[in-house]
Amino acid sequence: MSHAPSSPRRRLAAAAVLVVTALGLAAVAHAQQNRGAQQIKYRQAVYTVLGTQFGIMGAMAQGRAPWDAKAFATAADRAAFISTVAPDTFPPGSEAGAPTEAKPEIWKNQDEFGRMMRDLQDKTRALAAAAKGGDQNATKAALGAAGQTCKACHDKYKAD
Ligand code: HEC
Repeated sequence: MSHAPSSPRRRLAAAAVLVVTALGLAAVAHAQQNRGAQQIKYRQAVYTVLGTQFGIMGAMAQGRAPWDAKAFATAADRAAFISTVAPDTFPPGSEAGAPTEAKPEIWKNQDEFGRMMRDLQDKTRALAAAAKGGDQNATKAALGAAGQTCKACHDKYKAD
């Protein structure tokens, strides 16, 4: 037999496989980190859109901007829509890879986190309905209720 298990050529081949595997693993780790970074950026962009709509509505509710029922209803619709996207932005693997304020407990308490997301969706949908209804006081109350869902989750799951 020319190729005994410990022949130099065999060992060289095994070493080459190890090097290639190590390079492959490093590439995978790098790709995962890039993917985490992308997912975090996407998540923060989604929340930026949500926060911007609340900024628009909050300014009107607090009298810092003139009440504009149509603009308020548009912001409420957008908030309700983007709230349906928010739960998709916490996939496993998006805990790290870029600076993030998402606490690791999110991925340990998926049931409670999911409930808080549904509460956000319910309250922003109710807000959009109230805004269409045209009653300013009811709309302000619905804005307050929706705002509570932000605070509840941030208090527990967002680092500040
Ligand atoms: C179920 C949990 C949850 C709810 C509900 C929630 N947030 Fe957040 N929010 C987070 C987490 C977690 C982060 C941190 C994301 C990160 O840094 O990766 C965040 C980040 C943000 C940011 C910062 C985005 C950035 O650029 O870093 C804004 C603005 C924001 N949220 C607004 C809101 C508003 C407004 C509401 C309610 C209408 C809301 N959030 C509801 C969990 C939530």
